[in-house]
Amino acid sequence: MNPDASNLELLLSEKQIQEEIGNIAADIDCFFGGREIIVIGVLKGALFFMADLLRSMKTQSGFDLIQAKSYEGTTSAGEIKILKEPSCALEGKEILLVEDILDTGITATGIKKYLTEKGAEKIYVCSLLNKKGRRIADIEPDFCGFEIDNLFVVGYGLDYNEKFRELRDIYVIA
Ligand code: IMP
Ligand code: MG
Repeated sequence: MNPDASNLELLLSEKQIQEEIGNIAADIDCFFGGREIIVIGVLKGALFFMADLLRSMKTQSGFDLIQAKSYEGTTSAGEIKILKEPSCALEGKEILLVEDILDTGITATGIKKYLTEKGAEKIYVCSLLNKKGRRIADIEPDFCGFEIDNLFVVGYGLDYNEKFRELRDIYVIA
């Protein structure tokens, strides 16, 4: 498969995505109620989502980035390799981990484990998309935008072999 723009079918428009981000931000503001948190975005997919979410939230937060690689199919226990560590102090902090998509859940589980080992007090997961049907690890997002079927999607940060991340909408590869 070598998809180009003609193979893409619109799943979620920029307007739908931005409206939903407003809802998620309101939920986050309501939940944290003035507490300070650290937002940690998972590279590369969560880049645009995190940027838009941070600017919609009122909750006081610093932000940082993490990058990890999972070994899908080998384990559900969250065995991952950290490619980029956050540089901020995590000790005793409440963290909001921002993901583009929860698929098997292995990456988010591994990152939660890593952040816990670094001393984070509590880690909440916020994912724009949730492919519940593909889950292997025992994890659910605390804040979630859209539940989607078992489809491979691109755009708004999500890629196919590093392509399509820059698109403002989310598409299914047909
Ligand atoms: P996990 O299976 O939950 O560990 O997800 C690992 C990563 O795979 C996600 O953070 C995404 O970057 C990527 N991924 C999973 N499903 C899709 C998809 O449908 N499109 C693009 N990337 C995906
Ligand atoms: Mg990702």
